[in-house]
Amino acid sequence: MAKASVVFFCQECGTSHAKWSGKCEGCGSWNSLVEEKVSKSAKKSPKQSLTLTALADAPLAKEAGRIQTRYDEFNRVCGGGIVDGAAMLLGGDPGIGKSTLLLQVMADLSQQVNCAYFTGEESLSQVQLRAKRLGVEHAPLQVAASNNLQTIMQTLQANRAIKVVVIDSIQTLVSDELDSAPGTVSQVKQCSNELIQLAKSQNVVIIFVGHVTKDGTIAGPRVLEHMVDTVLHFEGEQHYDFRILRSIKNRFGASHEMGVFRMQGEGLVEVKNPSELFLSDRADAVSGTAIFAGIEGTRPLLCEIQALVAPSYLPAPRRTTVGWDNNRLAMILAVLESRFGHHFSKKDVYLNVAGGLKLNEPAADLAVAAALISANKNTPLPSRAVYFGEISLSGEVRPVFHEDMRIKEAERLGFETFYCASRGKKKHSGITMPNLHKLV
Ligand code: TYD
Ligand code: MG
Repeated sequence: MAKASVVFFCQECGTSHAKWSGKCEGCGSWNSLVEEKVSKSAKKSPKQSLTLTALADAPLAKEAGRIQTRYDEFNRVCGGGIVDGAAMLLGGDPGIGKSTLLLQVMADLSQQVNCAYFTGEESLSQVQLRAKRLGVEHAPLQVAASNNLQTIMQTLQANRAIKVVVIDSIQTLVSDELDSAPGTVSQVKQCSNELIQLAKSQNVVIIFVGHVTKDGTIAGPRVLEHMVDTVLHFEGEQHYDFRILRSIKNRFGASHEMGVFRMQGEGLVEVKNPSELFLSDRADAVSGTAIFAGIEGTRPLLCEIQALVAPSYLPAPRRTTVGWDNNRLAMILAVLESRFGHHFSKKDVYLNVAGGLKLNEPAADLAVAAALISANKNTPLPSRAVYFGEISLSGEVRPVFHEDMRIKEAERLGFETFYCASRGKKKHSGITMPNLHKLV
């Protein structure tokens, strides 16, 4: 017989607590504990011992096939196509375009394999309306509106031909076996667990849509991220139409791979050359701008770094960054000030990565330093030049990986000088920090 007990789950990180408290012991967030009833099965499973096998004798899994979609950007983020039987999670802010992306991808996939799209958030007529807008209403995609776990499971068991399933979204699913509301930790855990088990046993690809919390993590338990093979994030800025699909975790390919799309009137359109997108409205000969040759995942990406240095009338001058880490800016300012005599102490400093892009590569240090020096001297940097390199606390420029790939991309876009740490190679213009300020 099932016995129900009360557990308090943190809705941010999924940690369970025996009694209520204001602060979660797992992640430290306040007011995030919610009471949920968990039924414990009294049935004990019979204990069985395992048969141990030598590693070399373990049965070899046959190479899983990959399903390619029409969207190369999507295939790349999945590590070269969707792997047979994979469990995937697509997270993102509300309204960013998760349902649109998956409807487009599924409409295309349904031309090759049997696909089903379960929507728990919208009615079937809303899905059809969107499909019409995207021009895919005649695709052989099967759709159903349901938020009941058991019904969806039965449908999948009865339709063995289905090979790819989308659940939009995991937070709307409810299992009859639990009393808690949809979207709570125990519901999300239970529903995803059962669906993943079913999908693996039938070798079906399952893609969950997941909502994200204010701080950008997928709502519900973190365990969901551990249960799936691939976690994708769909992100973008409110005021820009481009959308970035990133792989946060991928058991079948490189993580931190990036795909770029544009949200347009008739759906998402791929951006094959994102560097051009982030450089398109570049004005030469403006002080405080430097072009950074970065790498996102396995692909080079050029973008513009903009700095503004202005006299400050505040006791603690402003240090404002958009798209770049504040602490990293503080470190570079300190290096420039204490090692090379550039003074920023009575000045406000603003740093912006153009186009709403977010950079977290330390390789951008050199471009940031160049932009800061140029802004401080109010003199433009040499045109047609790119910068990449990490700056150490001692003020040295350190080499970064994939130098040739960065240079190739910059060359393709018409850049002629490549400032980085390596010297002696044909195309590299090696640079040291003392030489950097001589450029302006
Ligand atoms: P949606 O896919 O519903 O977002 P999510 O599932 O992540 O909540 O996207 C909704 C937004 O996308 C909405 O603001 C309208 C916009 N949109 C377009 O600009 N063009 C389109 O063709 C479609 C279908 C949506
Ligand atoms: Mg949606």
